[in-house]
Amino acid sequence: MRLQRVLLFLALSVCPLFSLTNCEEQRVPEEKLLIVTIATQDTEGFKRFLVSAKHFNYTVKVLGRREKWRAGDYMSATGGGQKVRLLKEALQEMKNEDTIILFTDSYDVVFSSGPKELLKKFQQAKHKVVFSSESLIWPDRHLEDKHPHVTEGNRFLGSGGFIGYLPSIREMVADWKGEDSDSDQLFFTNIYIDPAKRKSINITVDNKCRMFQNLHGALGEVVLKFEDGRVRARNVLYDTLPVVVHGNGPTKLQINYLGNYIPNIWTFETGCTACNEGLLPLEGLQESEYPLVLIGIFIQKPTPFVTVFFERFLKLQYPKNRLKLFIHNQEAHHESQVSLFLKDHGSLYQDVRVSGPEEEMDTAASRNLAIDVCRKDEGCDYFFTLDIEVVLKNENTLKILIEQNLPFVAPMITRPGRLWSNFWGALSAEGYYARSEDYVDIVQGRRVGVWNVPYVSSVYLLKASLLRSELTDFDLFNSDILDPDMAFCHNIRKQGVFMFVTNMQTFGRIVSIETYQTSHLHNDLWQIFENPVDWQERYIHENYTYIMRDKLIETPCPDVYWFPIFSDVACDHIVEEMEHFGKWSGGDNTDVRIQGGYENVPTIDIHMNQINFEKEWHKFLLEYIAPITEKMYPGYYTKCATPLNFVVRYKPDEQPLLAPHHDASTFTVNIALNSKEVDYQGGGCRFLRYDCSIEATRKGWTLMHPGRLTHYHEGLPTTGGVRYIAVSFVDP
Ligand SMILES: *[C@@H]1O[C@H](CO)[C@@H](O)[C@H](O)[C@H]1NC(C)=O
Ligand SMILES: *[C@@H]1O[C@H](CO)[C@@H](O)[C@H](O)[C@H]1NC(C)=O
Ligand SMILES: *[C@@H]1O[C@H](CO)[C@@H](O)[C@H](O)[C@H]1NC(C)=O
Repeated sequence: MRLQRVLLFLALSVCPLFSLTNCEEQRVPEEKLLIVTIATQDTEGFKRFLVSAKHFNYTVKVLGRREKWRAGDYMSATGGGQKVRLLKEALQEMKNEDTIILFTDSYDVVFSSGPKELLKKFQQAKHKVVFSSESLIWPDRHLEDKHPHVTEGNRFLGSGGFIGYLPSIREMVADWKGEDSDSDQLFFTNIYIDPAKRKSINITVDNKCRMFQNLHGALGEVVLKFEDGRVRARNVLYDTLPVVVHGNGPTKLQINYLGNYIPNIWTFETGCTACNEGLLPLEGLQESEYPLVLIGIFIQKPTPFVTVFFERFLKLQYPKNRLKLFIHNQEAHHESQVSLFLKDHGSLYQDVRVSGPEEEMDTAASRNLAIDVCRKDEGCDYFFTLDIEVVLKNENTLKILIEQNLPFVAPMITRPGRLWSNFWGALSAEGYYARSEDYVDIVQGRRVGVWNVPYVSSVYLLKASLLRSELTDFDLFNSDILDPDMAFCHNIRKQGVFMFVTNMQTFGRIVSIETYQTSHLHNDLWQIFENPVDWQERYIHENYTYIMRDKLIETPCPDVYWFPIFSDVACDHIVEEMEHFGKWSGGDNTDVRIQGGYENVPTIDIHMNQINFEKEWHKFLLEYIAPITEKMYPGYYTKCATPLNFVVRYKPDEQPLLAPHHDASTFTVNIALNSKEVDYQGGGCRFLRYDCSIEATRKGWTLMHPGRLTHYHEGLPTTGGVRYIAVSFVDP
């Protein structure tokens, strides 16, 4: 008995009829619903609207296709009378009087649920016409008092979305006689605040956003609710799940952001498949059929690893004769690297254009110019920006981006161990960075997809057709208040062009230029703190990370270990750096070897501290030597405290050898910096107690042995050429 009552109560609260069966019968069939919208241009926002409508099986009628938009900037909310005229004309021709019309804007609207839910909520509203609601009144604040009071929810109507029966809406717009540029918002407001009309047409507003969510003035009340790979916008103030979400007023960006989550548009997991003409596969094309890309390379500040940038750039997978280069270099410091690259490889590219520091062109000017070169070149299909600090690890990046077939797309790049990336998830009211709800998940790869974002920098691809249509303005990078990168994104957004960033593959990272100094010959050697990943890739032997797994550590003599540590480049850079410094000394700094009774055994050497490389070398020992020491000499832990570090030079006519001695260390590291037979003859190291020598020294490999007591040793004579070794006495 009690249970029955509860059931009856539930049934009544869901639908005001007598039984559930009856309730089903009374529901308006979905075929009766017609979405009517106006779109004079195929903006990307309009395409997004259609895709979301299609996903939920809405039937859409688009008006104004062949018209020119005369009601103001389509991105702004002024005007709008043209919409009312077009609607009025269309309604006059419609026949089925029981049609339910949903009229909505489209450039900045997405559906987040289907017709069934919308119709149910419309019926529950118990009015013939229901307008979307606004918390802010516009365009005429003086009309505020004339609006009926509401106990809860928004008091004002929004003309960007309403739903109603065909005859009622027809009646409502029948009196329209305005100009195309008159305000539709004011027209509908005047009808609504007229008590007689409100009653006779039977109009209300959806004041708790059960059907319509206008984001203008309401951002704080709307959150995204993630569930089973789906997302819905939720109004937390009224605890409702709106069906039609409208990024009106200055909230366009937020609708772009919500649009990221509309199923089948550019959802995470699937990527952008429907937002454009589909993917553009390059596979199977002849080299000569590849799109022509102008690549702008920009060097604006002294930057580490520029040589590596060019080495990597050469490996970019793309036919080089389909690439043109525009290199802008503001830094005299990097001129030699640029000209070396061009001398060796410039002729591989279809065209190369360079502007150097002497031209004194600033960032904005050079970027404007590079883009204009592509814009004016009829053959140019794409413009690809690549800033010098970008480490593009993925050799297929350019192909992947082209295949996305989007007007503007960037690969996501990050900074190792940080939350930095080359895109912003959201924008603050002032146009600066703001973190979006999903930013961290995207940067860390927990959400994967192609994302519509308000800002990207450093590396991105633009279709040249865009430069000849929406982006014809030469000066895209200048602004009175904004930095060039922000000014550029501002201009792109202003034109209604969507900027996408993809994290569907890993593309690479960016180097930090913060602590880069230019006072040395090989300044990259000093980057072990600021750019540890790049430093390791450049300077640590490629097989170092495998020495434990693949048992690469050799034991040429008892308790003497031998393993690869430095790349060839590291060896060369250290030697060149020392020779560049040039203050080799024998005696002063070398009273550290103990021979028999504490006699000096001087070497010709330069200490790391003489070239201010002490901290960096210590870091190197800690990161790359200490872990091996602790493995090979179990139970001994080292902080590599106060080691003595220097590079020794052996020459037949200078100092060819070193007499037997102990080292003032607990253990010693001895790294060969050049190649036997190629650079020198002879050389090596002999441990007297074991009568064991290592003569076939290997460039980049280190010896590691105990310093005192057991490993009394001598440096064998170098008989020709010049031999260099780097030595550390650890834990003296
Ligand atoms: C839309 O219609 C198709 C075919 O009628 C159906 O398979 C699909 O499930 C519908 N989608 C939704 C979201 O109702
Ligand atoms: C609107 O019409 C419904 C019936 O469709 C009625 O119940 C309601 O009272 C009307 N509201 C107004 C304000 O006239
Ligand atoms: C690294 O190891 C591989 C496989 O043993 C070898 O072929 C390669 O030459 C080594 N690299 C260097 C730089 O010695």
